[in-house]
Amino acid sequence: MTRQILVTAALPYANGHIHIGHLVEYIQTDIWVRFQKLRGNRCVFVCADDTHGTAITIRARREGRSEEDVIADMRAAHIRDFDAFQIEFDNYGSTNSAENQAQCRQVWSQIEAAGLVVSRDIEQLFDPQAGTFLADRFVRGTCPKCGAADQPGDNCSVCSATYSPADLTDPKSVLSEATPELRSAKHLFIELEQLRGFLTEWSQEPGRLQPEVARYLKGNFLGDELRDWDISRPAPYFGFEIPGHTGHYWYVWFDAPIGYIGSTQQWCERNGESLGDWWSQDADTEIHHFIGKDIVYFHTLFWPGMLKTAGLKLPDKVHVHGFLTVGGEKMSKSKGTFLMASTWLRHLPPGPLRYYYASKLGPGLDDLDLNPEEFVSRVNTDL
Ligand code: MSP
Ligand code: ZN
Repeated sequence: MTRQILVTAALPYANGHIHIGHLVEYIQTDIWVRFQKLRGNRCVFVCADDTHGTAITIRARREGRSEEDVIADMRAAHIRDFDAFQIEFDNYGSTNSAENQAQCRQVWSQIEAAGLVVSRDIEQLFDPQAGTFLADRFVRGTCPKCGAADQPGDNCSVCSATYSPADLTDPKSVLSEATPELRSAKHLFIELEQLRGFLTEWSQEPGRLQPEVARYLKGNFLGDELRDWDISRPAPYFGFEIPGHTGHYWYVWFDAPIGYIGSTQQWCERNGESLGDWWSQDADTEIHHFIGKDIVYFHTLFWPGMLKTAGLKLPDKVHVHGFLTVGGEKMSKSKGTFLMASTWLRHLPPGPLRYYYASKLGPGLDDLDLNPEEFVSRVNTDL
């Protein structure tokens, strides 16, 4: 029987270039999609740039241009790199699209109607010079535990203490070097706890998730009350304003996965298809997400919760892969092992990397190492 399969790879952030770590995922997914197509299945592969959030604004300010300008350039660069590595998306969208905004409104109205949204004031550090609230990683200062200087806002790289950015002695905004002040602002939260029963059942169903992923969720999240998910950010924020909440924007991780649907919609419109045949609850489709292990809970807790509440099709499978290391270590800019896709292409064709990753990838979450000697010997021996 012909299967109808919708496949997604995670949406790369528009604030940076595609590197060889990203390519593990896009190559793995591309190979899986090509295999399904060769088998005669109907398979559609969608992706998009993930364009919203603070990092884009910071980059835009630093470069003295608009966010729209930054994401347009990065989109062109991403598409160039993906093309060069022969990744064949059926649609490559953007989370900053009219289609995505419409889908976000749709999903949101269902979540509000289901009584899952609560509003609370929270205190957060504010940069008075840049005129913006600061995410944890945009504050640095002296560790309150060990006194190490210039530590990030969430945990200390010297003594590993975790804290909140307001606890730092001598906090500084990374944006302006100004001393941030604590300010209160309204945030909207989704009460995930209301979905815990559903999420437990969904995530623990045999065959849905890799066993280690199901165990991780059960052991780390589902055994306890789930914390409310902070889903809004006050202005200024580059994103979509929330209907009925002027001056408040959806947090980037709300509209990012909905980008899968927005991108499918663009593909449908170009191909005379109906979106309902792919995403409605009773659609005869399989939905497969491919992601890295760092974004598991977004895709296995928040996302199915959102879809369930919105009355949409739930993912049939979330395929999680490990991280790329180079020479046994985390990719590092200072060691010269943080290779951009475009840098690779200046020296070597894409085929050998596709082959090497294919030969190393398996069904598990283990990290995978790009070892230069092994790479040379595999290519020379096998190819
Ligand atoms: N924008 C989010 C995903 C939103 S999905 C609705 C994001 N972007 S990312 O650019 O940081 O990463 C995109 C994908 O590449 C993620 O699945 C991530 O796990 C994967 N990888 C990023 N660096 C990687 C390695 N070094 N190794 C393997 N995969 C890596 O997360
Ligand atoms: Zn410390």
